[in-house]
Amino acid sequence: MIDVQQVSRYFGDVTAVNDVSFKVEKGEIVGFLGPNAAGKTTTMRILTTYLPATSGTATVAGYDVHEQSMEVRKRIGYLPENPPLYQDMRVKDYLEFVAKIKGVAPAERKKAVDDAMAKTAIGDVSTRVIKVLSKGYKQRVGLAQALVHNPDVLILDEPTVGLDPNQIIEVRQLIKRLAGDHTIILSTHILPEVSMTCERVVIINKGVIVATDTTDGLTKKHAGATRLTVSVDAPVAAVKEKLATIKGVTKVEETSGSEYTTVFVESDKDVEIRPEVAKIVVANNWPLYEIKAEDVSLEDVFLHLTTKEEGTVS
Ligand SMILES: Nc1ncnc2c1ncn2[C@@H]1O[C@H](COP(=O)(O)OP(=O)(O)O)[C@@H](O)[C@H]1O
Ligand SMILES: [Mg+2]
Repeated sequence: MIDVQQVSRYFGDVTAVNDVSFKVEKGEIVGFLGPNAAGKTTTMRILTTYLPATSGTATVAGYDVHEQSMEVRKRIGYLPENPPLYQDMRVKDYLEFVAKIKGVAPAERKKAVDDAMAKTAIGDVSTRVIKVLSKGYKQRVGLAQALVHNPDVLILDEPTVGLDPNQIIEVRQLIKRLAGDHTIILSTHILPEVSMTCERVVIINKGVIVATDTTDGLTKKHAGATRLTVSVDAPVAAVKEKLATIKGVTKVEETSGSEYTTVFVESDKDVEIRPEVAKIVVANNWPLYEIKAEDVSLEDVFLHLTTKEEGTVS
């Protein structure tokens, strides 16, 4: 349904998005996860045809976002970071107006607006002026305007930002319910949001995609895995090489900031590698300063993927 191929976007010297590729299948709900300034909004604006890419191609339902932007817009509902709400209009009038500019035929507009209001549970405020609504309701009106032409694809840019905890829960549930009828990409910098609402996650940092996986897959692969911190007085290359030979070890990574050689050793779930580490340390006569085990959560994975220092070897 969505196919992004090697898309880059520069703003002068700033590389906002760098050679990004990913696909979203019909009916999927995918989280676009990354810290501030990662390039999420830029990617979404390219997908929604509001911003041209510097290079690369993107298609929605087979239509090119640049060459066939009108076809793409018909099939996309977009909730930008700041939804374009007309504060002085009543909810229903505003949605009718949006339906009109999105090309919904006059005879179908009433039903389109009623459906969008039902899906977003805003029927009870349909005659209210938008500016008097709470933030949670305003966000739902924003969702309703994205939905009103019943698009195949919904692109939601940080849909829960600025809401209070109860409103966040409501909006997340709402998005989950929409997932049956629409293909959805939502961006967020909040990891639990992705775990709670999405089936798959694309993690972006500094304009580059650093991981793509199912939410379950990411959790299984990393959370529950064990990570050891090992500190020894020995050359880092030798430590990395020897520890990597232990059965079940998936990654050995050096860290800086320690007086000695300190490495993180990640291993498969349920594999106890400490005895093997100890054997290697002893066999090589490395003075040992620390062996410490910790569980890796999805939070760690995210932090690790997004805050990796430049120049670290993994
Ligand atoms: N119109 C613009 N002009 C100049 N720089 C921009 C513009 N839009 C985004 N950027 C820069 O591109 C980078 C990515 O921004 P953005 O896509 O908004 O990230 P995110 O939505 O993940 O926070 C940032 O460094 C941002 O400052
Ligand atoms: Mg953004």
